[in-house]
Amino acid sequence: MKALTYRAPSRMKVMNKPDPRIEHPNDIVLRVTRAAICGSDLHLYHGLVPDTRVGTTFGHEFTGVVEEVGPSVTSLAKGDRVVVPFNIACGTCFYCARGLTSVCENTNPSNEIVGGAFGFSHMTGGYDGGQAEYVRVPFADVGPMKIPDDMHDEDVLFLSDILPTGYQAAEMGDIKEGETVCVFGAGPVGLIAAKCAWLMGAGRVIVVDKVDYRLEVARRWSNAETVDYKREGNAHVVDRLRRMTDGRGPDVCIDAVGCEASGSILQKALGTLMLQAGAATSIDWSINAVRKAGTVVLIGVYGPPFNIVPIGTAMNKGLTIRTAQCSVKRYMPHLLEHIRAGRIDPKGIISHRLRLEDGPDAYRMFARKEDECVKCVLIPNHAA
Ligand SMILES: NC(=O)c1ccc[n+]([C@@H]2O[C@H](COP(=O)([O-])OP(=O)(O)OC[C@H]3O[C@@H](n4cnc5c(N)ncnc54)[C@H](O)[C@@H]3O)[C@@H](O)[C@H]2O)c1
Ligand SMILES: [Zn+2]
Ligand SMILES: [Zn+2]
Repeated sequence: MKALTYRAPSRMKVMNKPDPRIEHPNDIVLRVTRAAICGSDLHLYHGLVPDTRVGTTFGHEFTGVVEEVGPSVTSLAKGDRVVVPFNIACGTCFYCARGLTSVCENTNPSNEIVGGAFGFSHMTGGYDGGQAEYVRVPFADVGPMKIPDDMHDEDVLFLSDILPTGYQAAEMGDIKEGETVCVFGAGPVGLIAAKCAWLMGAGRVIVVDKVDYRLEVARRWSNAETVDYKREGNAHVVDRLRRMTDGRGPDVCIDAVGCEASGSILQKALGTLMLQAGAATSIDWSINAVRKAGTVVLIGVYGPPFNIVPIGTAMNKGLTIRTAQCSVKRYMPHLLEHIRAGRIDPKGIISHRLRLEDGPDAYRMFARKEDECVKCVLIPNHAA
């Protein structure tokens, strides 16, 4: 089969790889119909995730048609269309029993921190991802959700990751009616978190980024006010947010940026070294901007262990800090209803649909924020 593969930092290549096969009785093999590129893939692409091996296929947001079914699988049959959560979960361990599939104990047993995930290096189990013609899906009775007959794959594609992630961010913010929510990052995750903040009763939503066209999408699609930190000056972002909120600061701040945040003075001085040490600019801004006794939500991904975080400020302000890799599965049924009812249309953020063969260009464009790229979806030839 054709698969997009990692060669080196900032270098992807479409190659022929052996077709995946059933390796365990609970597996299915999917013929991929849509595979999106996530901001999390950029951390891999930029070589920031440990143990990202040459030849790995990324991709944890995909839909497909069941092609082969392992002998123990009971809920799916050949020909079913499914959308698959990015987490790989066993469904029965201590955490899965509590709905916390992102920290499953059985699918990435050599790692004490995080469970298995598709296409996310050997740090999350070394499973190949869906940016390919076919993908093996373990524990097929646990993760995948059948796509209703009257819905298109693209209607539900983002139930695999960014819709539950953005929704969970707003939920963890514990937003009270009328409160002001500030989201750092106008990438797909931040845009969706901003949209979901309205669903939770926010009275005001502010999105911070420096990329003009993304701020425009935040105004148009997420219905948010925006702050451009490039124009504002990095040192003045927090002041600006306070001025916009009666001098107190937003009630809730959501960091939807993660370890590749720009804008820190240290980062400017230390460059790549700082990036590898973890540039925690948007957590820093979140903790400093949020009002006293407010809530900071961290959903941007941080890998490196040495992030510099103003924990003393957080403690003395009496903040609640909540974090998570999203446990996708538990949000799927509820969010499917939101999509059906038209309360949220996640496919509205797709800016580019490209062939799988154009994957290397798609990564480049998404990483460099070229051609007003917000979200790329790759389509294998057999699904075009
Ligand atoms: N927790 C989860 O389960 C989960 C799931 C999906 C994605 N993520 C993470 O969410 C983050 C965002 O994903 P995405 O797909 O939207 O990525 P993206 O790279 O498309 O968007 C990030 C945005 O942040 C902006 N930015 C950079 N520095 C900033 C700063 N200091 N302040 C404000 N904005 C800044 C960038 O200009 C960019 O527009 C990534 O870290 C990704 O790994 C987490
Ligand atoms: Zn993702
Ligand atoms: Zn489990």
